[in-house]
Amino acid sequence: MSAGGSGDMTQPVARFEDLVITYPSARGSLKAVDGVTLEVVKGEFLGLVGESGCGKTTLALTLLRMNEPGKVTGGSVKVEGIDLLSLDADALRRFRWEKVAMVFQAAMNTLDPVKTVESQIVETIVQHSQETKEQARAKVQGLLELVSIDPARAKSYPHELSGGMRQRVVIALALCLSPDILIADEPTTALDVVVQAGVMRTLKALQAKLGVTTILITHDISIMNGTADRLAIMYAGKIVEVGPTQQVIADPQHPYTQALLGAVPAIGSGTTVVKGIPGSPPDLISPPAGCRFAPRCPYAFDRCTKEEPPLVGDGKDMVACWLRTK
Ligand SMILES: Nc1ncnc2c1ncn2[C@@H]1O[C@H](COP(=O)(O)OP(=O)(O)OP(=O)(O)O)[C@@H](O)[C@H]1O
Ligand SMILES: [Mg+2]
Repeated sequence: MSAGGSGDMTQPVARFEDLVITYPSARGSLKAVDGVTLEVVKGEFLGLVGESGCGKTTLALTLLRMNEPGKVTGGSVKVEGIDLLSLDADALRRFRWEKVAMVFQAAMNTLDPVKTVESQIVETIVQHSQETKEQARAKVQGLLELVSIDPARAKSYPHELSGGMRQRVVIALALCLSPDILIADEPTTALDVVVQAGVMRTLKALQAKLGVTTILITHDISIMNGTADRLAIMYAGKIVEVGPTQQVIADPQHPYTQALLGAVPAIGSGTTVVKGIPGSPPDLISPPAGCRFAPRCPYAFDRCTKEEPPLVGDGKDMVACWLRTK
């Protein structure tokens, strides 16, 4: 992990190229990620946003090669130029935690209830590195300070901590081997609004202080304002819009992004602004032809239900919508 600044904002640290991840299921195979091409820039704070079931976690888990029972059935994924699909089990083990660490969805509820914060951090470091218990113990205070927890809480058990503090401990655990990339999967979903804002501020401060590339996954686009540098909007296994956060929020190009922001007219109503999106995402075992959002889109026209719109733009701002494509 490089120190200081918000990193070199031009170099890709990770790249998904036409990636396809397929899960087996009793009703047939399901492409949870279907042709995703996306670059993560070194040192950036990237928000990955979309409704439940759109493939956010599946895409992020690919950076740890933790796709089972899913399989990579197309495309590639590279981190710092290394093709992850070519790594053997040993190389992968080193890669996880040291290069990429993840705060898993609902991880704050999986802290070991009979171990103190300190012993959980020490155990994690010893398990995943060559360091001794003494060396690991010496790191605990600094890690807790990084996530704004009073180091005196090192001797606390998880049940003695608030939800926000437990989530901070989980973030400290993910950072304990100084990863280059930190993935946080819905880290604030279970928290109230004030605590949520505090955890977001901590993540932002970590990105600035450590230069750690941060990927934050959420269904709630509103928490990204002022935190993420860029947003990637995902719908039904595909990226439908990517761009600088302020621009995407102020001037969303894809009707799905507009809907996530609560700013799309209800179908047939013309002017009514709706909260929440009518309808539900498609079944990924047999997704609709054309644009997958078309069945819920108030602007859909003939072409949308027949041809899939490509993700196009100037490389910085990209959108997959026939309304925006000549
Ligand atoms: N282990 C699995 N086996 C089979 N299907 C799976 C598995 N994990 C996820 N899926 C399916 O893959 C699709 C994408 O799931 P994923 O968990 O990646 O979405 P998500 O965007 O992270 O959703 P959420 O916001 O609910 O966490 C869903 O249709 C889901 O049912
Ligand atoms: Mg998820």
